Amino acid sequence: MKILGINGSPRGDNSTTLKLVEAVLAGAEEAGAETKLIDLCSLSINYCHACAVCYRTGECVHDDDFGKVYGQIMGSDGIVLGSPVYFGSVTAQMKTMIDRMSDAVHCQLLLGKRVASVSTAGSEGHREVEEYINRIMVAMGATAVGSAGADMADPAGMEEALEKAFDLGRTLVREIEDGTAHPEQEMIHRRMRERFGRVIGAKKDEWTHEYDHWKRMGWL
Ligand SMILES: Cc1cc2nc3c(=O)[nH]c(=O)nc-3n(C[C@H](O)[C@H](O)[C@H](O)COP(=O)(O)O)c2cc1C
Repeated sequence: MKILGINGSPRGDNSTTLKLVEAVLAGAEEAGAETKLIDLCSLSINYCHACAVCYRTGECVHDDDFGKVYGQIMGSDGIVLGSPVYFGSVTAQMKTMIDRMSDAVHCQLLLGKRVASVSTAGSEGHREVEEYINRIMVAMGATAVGSAGADMADPAGMEEALEKAFDLGRTLVREIEDGTAHPEQEMIHRRMRERFGRVIGAKKDEWTHEYDHWKRMGWL
């Protein structure tokens, strides 16, 4: 089983969010998974141009590091995404990566994968960022198993968050193994398929790659 961690803080080894991503990976390793960590901010990833070429062909016009990251995401059974709170949201680097994945929403490419999120804040807002990340991953078809985070202004917060993150890694592995049901998320997946079924159907002559994917999946 492969678990991928992605840290969206630009602070490299000094990142507190990194500590939480690493704790999730340590929990996953203890539970028997193979893990890998990506430092997103050390990579060169361009903005999505909204050219829709990926909808038509399955390929992106950019030749940058995103392709490697996407390949690692698609080759993983579980993913943990971490971002510090920047003005109430994820970092620009994390958002840039997410924006490059709009075909994953259209084609529900993360179906069958489990995700978890972690975040740290200077004073508040980590829960909103954890929820945001998990919501977006669920919109792409993944199933979220939980999150962990801390406000740096709370001295006990990080210690508790590290323990929670370690447990989260174990939970991630267990849920991948036993396929724990999350009916409320399955309902979201059904709604996304209804929503994008209408979109893909309407665009079938233009977004041929995505239309073919939908046909192959038996959704149209
Ligand atoms: C540009 C920027 C924006 C930030 N915005 C917020 C914020 O809205 N709320 C907050 O509590 N902390 C904010 N912070 C503080 C970081 O969230 C906090 O220091 C975090 O723990 C950093 O994580 P890292 O060590 O993983 O980089 C901000 C920091 C920066 C540099």
